[in-house]
Amino acid sequence: MTCRAVVTGVGHYLPERVVPNSEFEATLDTSDEWIRTRSGIERRHFAAEGETTSDMAAHAARAALTDAGLSVSDIDAIVLATSTADLTFPSAATMVQHALGMTKGFAFDVQAVCAGFIYALSNAHALIVSGQAERVLVIGAETFSRIMDWTDRSTCVLFGDGAGALVLEAQDQPGAATDRGILSTDLHSDGRFKDLLYVDGGVSTQTTGHLRMQGNQVFRHAVEKLASTAETALERAGLTASDVDWIVPHQANIRIIQGTAKKMGLPMERVVVTVQDHGNTSAASIPLALSVGKERGQINPGDLIVTEAIGGGLAWGAVVLRW
Ligand code: UT7
Repeated sequence: MTCRAVVTGVGHYLPERVVPNSEFEATLDTSDEWIRTRSGIERRHFAAEGETTSDMAAHAARAALTDAGLSVSDIDAIVLATSTADLTFPSAATMVQHALGMTKGFAFDVQAVCAGFIYALSNAHALIVSGQAERVLVIGAETFSRIMDWTDRSTCVLFGDGAGALVLEAQDQPGAATDRGILSTDLHSDGRFKDLLYVDGGVSTQTTGHLRMQGNQVFRHAVEKLASTAETALERAGLTASDVDWIVPHQANIRIIQGTAKKMGLPMERVVVTVQDHGNTSAASIPLALSVGKERGQINPGDLIVTEAIGGGLAWGAVVLRW
């Protein structure tokens, strides 16, 4: 038998305020049409004043626990992917731990920007298969609206806020490619590309800073690196693209999502797409898409899922799992 990290619960939270593309037309030289055709985004949610990343993460975590039929006392660890934690420290994960009333176990943040949820899943998987935790809450949560330059039309129309969470549980499985749970992971980063997508401030520079992106350069890397990491992860699991029921990609741009699916030889009917409703929510985008995909009835038990993301660093990677 092989110990697998199996998804037993999923949930998400989106802040109440929905901002349609048309709202940007009043203050920027942009249009709903440009944003839709270049990115696929139609609307996004923005956190309310005072609403933080850990607040949204706690909502998503509660929803995932309810879905799993578990209480917080069943959880051994929280791994939270974010680049927009409430405070410099402590981690947003420990704030979620407190908000949930969890007094045992351990909690920490993972920072790999838009690839953060892939890195968090990979960490949680390692904790489970090495026997350090049996049940882990894996969360992606972001308030990117707090690091936007509202005068920069090339970035501020693209991002949104939100949170999604999974419960991963240790389960003994036969040890085959047909097992449920995480079957393989593949992680990469390359700091030579750090200037393509970054925030021009931080603790060491005594500023908060704003997101800066050379979008067309990131785009060029994205399709090639995402298809390649997805294929590597599938190969590691002893599977091929033809075995995949759903690609659940990081939701940055519909053209990147389409290009990656095409490169993998899969039709868009097998891709969960939420970018039109959420925009790019960075580390929250994949758990949000998994949760919405389940709600829509797209993702069902036994489905083979490949999930992939790329973001600042550059950092990228993929996880293959059977739901
Ligand atoms: O999640 C982390 C990873 N991030 C991504 O994956 C984002 C990757 N990049 C992208 O999604 C796309 O590159 C963008 C959506 C950011 C931009 O699309 P693009 O087709 O690459 O456009 P571009 O940056 O080459 O810009 C084309 C034109 C430019 O005008 P000129 O120089 O051709 O006159 C821009 O100034 O579009 C202009 N532009 C806009 N026009 C209207 C840029 N932003 C806007 C805007 N409204 N909001």
